[in-house]
Amino acid sequence: MNFLTVTLTGLHERESFCCGNAQLDIYFQKQAKQDIKRKLSVCFVLPDGNKVKGYYTLSSASVIRAQLPEDLIKKLPPSYTDLPVILLGRLAVSQEYQGQGLGETILMDALSRSYQVSLQIGSMAVVVDPIDQAAIKFYEKYGFIQLPDSGKMFLPMATIAQLHG
Ligand SMILES: CC(C)(COP(=O)(O)OP(=O)(O)OC[C@H]1O[C@@H](n2cnc3c(N)ncnc32)[C@H](O)[C@@H]1OP(=O)(O)O)[C@@H](O)C(=O)NCCC(=O)NCCS
Repeated sequence: MNFLTVTLTGLHERESFCCGNAQLDIYFQKQAKQDIKRKLSVCFVLPDGNKVKGYYTLSSASVIRAQLPEDLIKKLPPSYTDLPVILLGRLAVSQEYQGQGLGETILMDALSRSYQVSLQIGSMAVVVDPIDQAAIKFYEKYGFIQLPDSGKMFLPMATIAQLHG
């Protein structure tokens, strides 16, 4: 499987990255590389030479059974109190490249990577933690549903699998 993104390295320019959300900019500039080193998350970038057009992060995570929608819970064996998922922790496109379809491009890249992982390590969904109302709208466009009481959003891996034939 070919991906458009690569793992963030020291060669990529981090200081100049600006997506318009200070929290996501500071994370990318100051913490993303450290988190890779500590194995807390992996940060993937869409490069333009050494410049970065956009990035996202993936980690393994779990959601509590009770947080899932009722119709889904019914289909899951009761022994699973925590369900394995992949967390798409952060996703951002640099301001100069916004509005050109790159947000969608890197989201699809993240979903493809997650699907590949799910073929090796059980992961029943991709979960996101939208940073604000605009982010909720962005993820809703791609079928993510809001999980009650957590602020998180959820896209079943079965849905993502359909995209991959
Ligand atoms: C949200 C973000 C990733 C979108 O990136 P982008 O490259 O501008 O998005 P795209 O051009 O691929 O647009 C894809 C679709 O999402 C919609 N969209 C883009 N930004 C949106 C926003 N802020 N709110 C709602 N919808 C949005 C677009 O209208 C487009 O839909 P359309 O094809 O029906 O018009 C980018 O604006 C960004 O990095 N914002 C700051 C960080 C952020 O909010 N991240 C969200 C995850 S935490």
